[in-house]
Amino acid sequence: MENVTGNSSRVFEGHYSDLGDWKRGDVDYFVVPQRWEDYTEEEHAIWRDLYHRQMEILPGRAISLFMDNLKELGINDSQIPDFDEVNKVLMKKTGWKIVGVPGPIPVEPFFELLANRMFPVGTFIRTRDQFDYIQEPDVFHDLFGHVPILADPVFADYIEAYGRGGLKAADHNAVYMIGRLYWYTVEFGLIQEPEGLRIYGAGILSSPTESVFSLDSDSPNRVKFDVKRLLRSRFFIDDFQDTYHVIENFEELFEATKPDFLPYYEEVRELPTIQPTELIDSDIVLHKGTGEYAKKAAENRAARKKQKQEAAEKADK
Ligand code: PHE
Ligand code: CO
Repeated sequence: MENVTGNSSRVFEGHYSDLGDWKRGDVDYFVVPQRWEDYTEEEHAIWRDLYHRQMEILPGRAISLFMDNLKELGINDSQIPDFDEVNKVLMKKTGWKIVGVPGPIPVEPFFELLANRMFPVGTFIRTRDQFDYIQEPDVFHDLFGHVPILADPVFADYIEAYGRGGLKAADHNAVYMIGRLYWYTVEFGLIQEPEGLRIYGAGILSSPTESVFSLDSDSPNRVKFDVKRLLRSRFFIDDFQDTYHVIENFEELFEATKPDFLPYYEEVRELPTIQPTELIDSDIVLHKGTGEYAKKAAENRAARKKQKQEAAEKADK
């Protein structure tokens, strides 16, 4: 029985884009207990294998604090970490805590958790079939990818401020703009450390292929981080990034996002959207990409779209 009722069985237990009767202030409306005892041996083994795979790749690629913080937080290869144990350390370091969620949650409750220094972590883990790619963030992406840098005091403050900014953006039809900032920093950001270019974005840190691609490939652009530019920058969720945005340090992120964004939103609304592969005149270009991968990806996307259309036409007949 135990093998069938693992936490993975909870992946699609509801409509997570559905707000239900959530209202602002219901901070833990979407929070669920981790039920750590319910993970099966196989689920712990999947964690272990994902962990080992990243550890082969990340030394010398991940931001330098990453390895130390993993260790300090007790996030290791032995098993899926118990949230309560991680929280004992994390709360002391930065006042953040992680809370369980059943899957992706709607954006406003998400912002509200962040504004209260609570980071939502999917309690489920992907299956072996999803080993290489999973769209819904699972415990490996959320915990391994996001939590180590939440133990950094400056980054911790940045994410809290982001959560508050997100709620404000929601009141001004600007979620799509502030979402782009999250995407290109928290999820796919690079940082220039004295020893070299490193990864701090969780979407990269939890992906073996993008960990290599983001730093080593000639295909993507790498440009210096610029807040207003990012608010205009569209992204594709299901492929490698065509442009990576590089910060010098977390203070830069925190300082650049301090101003009131409302005038930024008004300004950006009047400007054209910047496409993922596109560079603009004001960009400080660290590496101009060949765009080789982007070209292939665009062809794949077009082929998928065509396939879908043909299938739909057939079904119509
Ligand atoms: N200062 C931003 C605002 O007024 C909020 C924000 C903080 C946005 C941090 C992003 C990151 O909207
Ligand atoms: Co994420």
